[in-house]
Amino acid sequence: MPTKARIWVCDNDQLEENNYVQIEVAYASEPSSVVVFRYKGKCLAYRNRCAHMQQRLDCKKDTIFDDTGQNLRCSMHGATYDPITGESMSAICKGERLTPIRVQENEEGVWITDKRVKPLAGISK
Ligand code: FES
Repeated sequence: MPTKARIWVCDNDQLEENNYVQIEVAYASEPSSVVVFRYKGKCLAYRNRCAHMQQRLDCKKDTIFDDTGQNLRCSMHGATYDPITGESMSAICKGERLTPIRVQENEEGVWITDKRVKPLAGISK
């Protein structure tokens, strides 16, 4: 039985609470960025693309969280998102949500296991 494809993100201890790792990948055959972060002890990931104007969440600041550490926040115009569901909490992109990316954490570390995501080198031009 073939092993499920997965993409290495980082060691477990590199992903502290309210910290994130940004990784360049191919998402649905397009170059893309994914943010993997820890929130309330849980490892979560989204495509790094704001629902408002498709900017990276960390485009203006080196963080994806707001000052409280309780919400994700796009640094372009300040749209906030629920870290667990990815749902927008802001009027400027009401009803929108971030694209969730499947991740796995085990004793080896943190991995992207989403079948839509491939290593960036895998894109054919
Ligand atoms: S691009 Fe993210 S809030 Fe406008």
